Amino acid sequence: MAATAAVLRVPTSAVATSLQNTVRSSDVLQQTITPPFGSIVLSSRIQQLNTLTQSSSFVGDKPSENRMAGCARAVATTEGLSAAAEGRGDETDSNGALDGTQFLRPHLLSLAPYTPIEPFEILSARLGRRPEDIVKLDANENPYGPPPEVLEALGSMQFPNIYPDPESRRLREALAKDTGVGAEHLLVGCGADELIDLIMRCTLDPGDKIVDCPPTFTMYAFDADVNNAEVVTVSRKPDFSLDVPGIVDAVEKHNPKIVFLTSPNNPDGSVIREEDLVTILKLPVLVVLDEAYIEFSDEPSRAGWVRTHSNLIVLRTFSKRAGLAGLRVGFGAFPLSLVKYLWRAKQPYNVSVAAEVAACAALSNSAYLEDVKNALVKERERLFGLLQDVPFLKPYPSAANFILCDVKETHSAKEIKDALAKQGVMVRHYQKPQLKNFVRISVGKPEQTDLLMKALQSIP
Ligand SMILES: Cc1ncc(COP(=O)(O)O)c(C=O)c1O
Repeated sequence: MAATAAVLRVPTSAVATSLQNTVRSSDVLQQTITPPFGSIVLSSRIQQLNTLTQSSSFVGDKPSENRMAGCARAVATTEGLSAAAEGRGDETDSNGALDGTQFLRPHLLSLAPYTPIEPFEILSARLGRRPEDIVKLDANENPYGPPPEVLEALGSMQFPNIYPDPESRRLREALAKDTGVGAEHLLVGCGADELIDLIMRCTLDPGDKIVDCPPTFTMYAFDADVNNAEVVTVSRKPDFSLDVPGIVDAVEKHNPKIVFLTSPNNPDGSVIREEDLVTILKLPVLVVLDEAYIEFSDEPSRAGWVRTHSNLIVLRTFSKRAGLAGLRVGFGAFPLSLVKYLWRAKQPYNVSVAAEVAACAALSNSAYLEDVKNALVKERERLFGLLQDVPFLKPYPSAANFILCDVKETHSAKEIKDALAKQGVMVRHYQKPQLKNFVRISVGKPEQTDLLMKALQSIP
């Protein structure tokens, strides 16, 4: 079983799909495996999976990154080796004939197991540093946090014992004022993440396709897999701009339901040119424009365009601009013809009382939000200049609250990430075909930039 340790690699959706097909069609799986041969068969299956993965590419922040492990574990599970493969040994089945996996929708067997993000306190214990001494620049969070009104409002929250307003009316009214888009177009979710999944659940039948433009936010491909949709990949160009002719071709050839676009894009921070967006909006496809970082750019939000484009959805979040990542609030602007059905399908109490109270309080102090945004944009520009002077990094200009850096061949992104972590500075690293040897650094407070630079300078 030692071979299972070797499978923690990362697939594209395309690879995940081929893995799924491999798993489904495999004659190995049709056989009854009797120990000791089971482990031998599993090893060879894992080798196949590894071979497939070596040509894969993937980028992201979410559990989907670890789908390869899921594929291998799916094989292990199907082959009757689940407990060992999952590292569990304490499960007993009172009805020997049953195995939980047989109840699952088959396509879900190729999903990765949930990979928990290390909680901040546990990270702090592991690094032997107080949470306040960790320079956390790995998840594009807002180091300033929300305005003080948020904690006050949470402290005096009146009815936590009562279910929240399923229509988040107070928040949607406040958002209508903030965005200039009528409340009737707005739907709030438990983060933009929830809305990505809700959109797919409402629009995709199994086998329908989406277009994904990596490197980008990985939840589009992840949720497509969960929803049994196919992912058509149109990779970004080397400068991370969209391959618009490639998207047009893909729409003509594959007839997808949705194209996912991100502006500014995670992980590089580039924005989509207006003429490109207009071209893509003319295609017979639903366009989901994810503007999670729009406030840090000079571009206006296109949320108001949903009034005139019945194939456009624009997603926004309180996680970045308002420092509320932990409370999970995002929202979308939708054409009226679509939003009425999303209302019917959404979980009634998807936005908690605390989340709504916090988001309304954050919007009540727009001056604070503006100051924090300006501080982060100013710091981004300072950080960019400083990173340009680091001999082993090539930073990319960014319109978001993070900077992607190409790590020169002399160094390894993983080693840089590890060396910084030892000094209490957390950054994100990538090692995939589309992003070979890159690090992404979130913009922090000026003193955090100083600590980052000091730590970078200590790397030979
Ligand atoms: C492009 C993009 N969209 C959406 C999200 C998730 O937003 P939320 O925290 O509102 O779920 C992220 C988070 O990193 C992101 O990078």
